[in-house]
Amino acid sequence: MLKRRIFQSRRWLCRSFSSIIHSEPVRVCVVGSGPAGCYTAEKMLKASQQAQVDIIDRLPTPFGLVRSGVAPDHPETKIVVNQFSRVAQHERCSFFGNVTLGSNVSLAELRKLYHVVVLAYGAESDRSLGIPGENLKGILSAREFVWWYNGHPDGRNLDPDLKSIDTAVILGQGNVALDVARILLRPTTELATTDIASHALSTLEESSIRVVYLVGRRGPAQAACTAKELREVLGIKNLDVSIQESDLHLTPTDEEELKSNRIHRRIFELLSKAATSRPIHAGLNQRQLRFVFFRKPDSFQESKDSTGHVSGVLFEKTVLKGVGPGKQIAVGTGEFEDLKCGMVLKSIGYKSVPVDGLPFDHKKGIVPNDKGRVLSDTSDTAVLEEGLYVCGWLKRGPTGIVATNLYCAEETVSSILEDLEKGGLISSTAAPKPGRDGLLNLLHDRNVRTVSFNDWEKIDSEEKRLGSLRNKPREKLATWNELLTATSEGTDHST
Ligand SMILES: Cc1cc2nc3c(=O)[nH]c(=O)nc-3n(C[C@H](O)[C@H](O)[C@H](O)COP(=O)(O)OP(=O)(O)OC[C@H]3O[C@@H](n4cnc5c(N)ncnc54)[C@H](O)[C@@H]3O)c2cc1C
Ligand SMILES: NC(=O)c1ccc[n+]([C@@H]2O[C@H](COP(=O)([O-])OP(=O)(O)OC[C@H]3O[C@@H](n4cnc5c(N)ncnc54)[C@H](OP(=O)(O)O)[C@@H]3O)[C@@H](O)[C@H]2O)c1
Repeated sequence: MLKRRIFQSRRWLCRSFSSIIHSEPVRVCVVGSGPAGCYTAEKMLKASQQAQVDIIDRLPTPFGLVRSGVAPDHPETKIVVNQFSRVAQHERCSFFGNVTLGSNVSLAELRKLYHVVVLAYGAESDRSLGIPGENLKGILSAREFVWWYNGHPDGRNLDPDLKSIDTAVILGQGNVALDVARILLRPTTELATTDIASHALSTLEESSIRVVYLVGRRGPAQAACTAKELREVLGIKNLDVSIQESDLHLTPTDEEELKSNRIHRRIFELLSKAATSRPIHAGLNQRQLRFVFFRKPDSFQESKDSTGHVSGVLFEKTVLKGVGPGKQIAVGTGEFEDLKCGMVLKSIGYKSVPVDGLPFDHKKGIVPNDKGRVLSDTSDTAVLEEGLYVCGWLKRGPTGIVATNLYCAEETVSSILEDLEKGGLISSTAAPKPGRDGLLNLLHDRNVRTVSFNDWEKIDSEEKRLGSLRNKPREKLATWNELLTATSEGTDHST
């Protein structure tokens, strides 16, 4: 199904490159400079010689989660920014950072200014568990923790207490959960030469955390992570990994599931191997990673010292029920067990948030759409929101790797091209759309200081210079003030 959709989008992209001629440029605004936004801009520029693309982002820095999500010890994943930089530097493309849709400019305004608006602003909030005690101190979302160690300016003040606790519980077993476990457990000498934020490195150097629990509501045959990432965490130097062998018992449905899913089969094999190859003598100060399966969080426990701090998680044991492979869900058994801890990281998924005037499917946490075309609502009678498109996590939900957004962008761009060819987006009778000039006038009137791609390159150079002093690829500027100070005093709109 997915392959067929990709094939159809590609066919459309090839067919329509030069066939659409308009009397004025096709003015496109892409909101968000993460992978979805950058791939959309790239495909749009390539497909239509008349497209003029402006990318806006609320941060002074581009590239979304490639900068603020991808782990510091995954430098190879970040190489894609070279490709994204070439897109932003294209003669028909501009980047305007420090511009927030929803506060600096509204969706209605953007739609008036541009023929096409593509929303690719990701998922900047968190799913919640909705269980008692969720607001206790020491309970953080993985998103906040990741922002903190990756130098996102909104994560700078998180200041997690890793010094007075010895145990952390991570809820969820996806790749983000594995990332945060690895950052907590990996020797800091190995992190020191990455682009990890310096405030995070100092805190991790003083960490007294010795035990990390990775807790899943389902079993080892359903774990949401991928093999490379699991191998990496299992391979951390001098780490004692434990998995209860009884959790590795497979039901016939699990076996069916594993037969048809190579990734899950590989994960299960790795976990089985890890369960049987524990070191016989765990050292006194050795760090431990404990996988816990078949437990769903029921409530958080508060410490007795009235500080409002978390002291543990109460879990309900689960069994899997479901009609078939891949559809098994965790069901509570009525049996409970707690795990004492000083910190909880909820890694149960990100969540997108709507802006004013944007149709939103609150149940799925996405913008309702048909192949990237925004729909007015989620009903069967929904109509298309003309000129409005969506891409990336905001379109599909918070799953998929960087490359997934390339296929997603191809689909959205081929929808745009189809609509352009039908003549719906640029009318010969309507007044021309002001596009970039209109946006810059509006932002100027509101005293919004935009950050151009040239300005970002100044931040980039400064970070690389600071990094070279510490044998790091870069030292991220991690406050709004530092970031904006590093840009030029005057506003440069040349790229
Ligand atoms: C912690 C983590 C680690 C990951 N590691 C990897 C990895 O190693 N390899 C891999 O392939 N994939 C990885 N991924 C997945 C990958 O990062 C995502 O698939 C991808 O970033 C999603 O792209 P996006 O453009 O939809 O969203 P994002 O990358 O989140 O980009 C959204 C952009 O929109 C901007 N924005 C938000 N709100 C507004 C607003 N109101 N106005 C203007 N701009 C706004 C943001 O600043 C951001 O730049 C990781 C994901 C996470 C969460
Ligand atoms: N290195 C990489 O390539 C990399 C790194 C990081 C992220 N990513 C990608 O980014 C995407 C997002 O990753 P993610 O880890 O945030 O999401 P994810 O892969 O969807 O994992 C979410 C985890 O949370 C659990 N969960 C969800 N709701 C829960 C609840 N109410 N109670 C208990 N557990 C709950 C899920 O369990 P169930 O399975 O039972 O639902 C799952 O274990 C993924 O596609 C991932 O592959 C890639």
